[in-house]
Amino acid sequence: MSLIPIVYYSHHPALHKVAEPVTEFNEALAKLVQDMYETMYHADGCGLAAPQIGIAKRIAVIDISEEKDKPFCIINPEIIERSGEKMMSAGCLSVPGTYTTAPRSTYVKVRAQDETGKFFEIEGHDLLAHCLQHEIDHLYGKLNIDYLSSLKKNISLKKMEKFLKRTKGK
Ligand code: NI
Repeated sequence: MSLIPIVYYSHHPALHKVAEPVTEFNEALAKLVQDMYETMYHADGCGLAAPQIGIAKRIAVIDISEEKDKPFCIINPEIIERSGEKMMSAGCLSVPGTYTTAPRSTYVKVRAQDETGKFFEIEGHDLLAHCLQHEIDHLYGKLNIDYLSSLKKNISLKKMEKFLKRTKGK
């Protein structure tokens, strides 16, 4: 397995466009998913989408378990049911140093494929629902801070740039 560098808001075009569906379920994809798990754990995140490592493909990995031992991947995911609404706060590995709120459903049901191409459904409430929506948004080129007004967004981006400067080389 290997770590893949994470890209930051406005630093890479893949982050801001609609990702392409995955059509080939092969060894290269399985390896990419493993690398995404490793990259997510290394960055101490609970989710990572392929656009965040500069790959505009519809792949995301998630692990919200406390022991960080229950990872799963969603490929070509679609939200097929949702309910409830709540403003939820989140950080994003592509906008480090900031937390922002966005309107989220408190329940979602997602249909996706695993790394072998098999279809499955997953239901999530609260944190898992939130995480699923956040990662699926990434596959549409949408980040948490895109829900903010442009004024608040600029403040967040300035915080991020400061954070990156401070942590550069660490
Ligand atoms: Ni994110």
